[in-house]
Amino acid sequence: MKPVVSLFTSSIGRKFLMAVTGLVLIGFVIGHLVGNLQVFEHPDKINGYAHFLQSLGPALWGVRLGLLACVIIHVWAATVLTLENHRARGGAYGVKHTIQATFASRQMRWTGYIVLAFIGYHLAHFTLGVAQPATFKENLGRYIMTDDYRVFGFTVVRAGAEVLDVHSMVVRGFQPPLVAAFYILAVGLLSLHLLHGAESLFQTFGWRNARWSRPLRAAVTLACALYFLGNLAIPGAVLTGALTPHPAGAAAVGPAK
Ligand code: HEM
Repeated sequence: MKPVVSLFTSSIGRKFLMAVTGLVLIGFVIGHLVGNLQVFEHPDKINGYAHFLQSLGPALWGVRLGLLACVIIHVWAATVLTLENHRARGGAYGVKHTIQATFASRQMRWTGYIVLAFIGYHLAHFTLGVAQPATFKENLGRYIMTDDYRVFGFTVVRAGAEVLDVHSMVVRGFQPPLVAAFYILAVGLLSLHLLHGAESLFQTFGWRNARWSRPLRAAVTLACALYFLGNLAIPGAVLTGALTPHPAGAAAVGPAK
């Protein structure tokens, strides 16, 4: 029990908690991006995928609650460590910064808070659908799957199933340029946050040393740039007209309910 308590009560413990929760959240954002990129394929893909996730029921809620706990612990540990560092500035205790300060590292607090605010908006936008113009809601219909959706070769959604039209929701959701611009800004800030965060967690886990620090920085920078480009691609493609809603009234689309 004592080691668990010390995770929350010592600086090193809190740094470890911040790294572990950060790692889980990195896993989520990468998985989320890979899932979202299916919007560039046939609408069956992203619609089948979203329906499959919804069909997980209690397991989905378990994952959601786990992610929420990670966000809360991550923000709490970051805030406490920052306050401690302020107090310890010039002193011999507190968490030592062994990574040279960069632009990304100096903006961690602000990029973190803005990403947090973005998540709130994003949930209202796509998960709850409350931050949507009325025309969007009218357009949000049901979709009849034209083909099976498979995960690792297993059919998880059958052709003919009626599912939510997430493809149209995403594409139409990014049609207002201000909304698309806000997403691009938010994922840019998130990528900047990850740039320092990922390097920091390697440091915390003891996986970073003088010999590997330069290649590690290069690999993390490349990964963050790819992450940014992947996220930019979706609102960017809608803004430029490269990604358009699939034709309304096509056989695959059912009436709005
Ligand atoms: C272009 C970028 C993005 C797109 C197109 C996108 C799309 C979506 C969609 C469609 C949903 C709703 C799924 C559903 O309820 O059926 C969703 C949920 C969510 N997104 Fe994103 N997303 C993007 C970026 C992000 C980023 C950068 C984050 C994190 C910082 C994020 C975090 C979440 C979370 C936490 C949920 C709720 C998941 C749940 O309810 O189970 N998204 N996203």
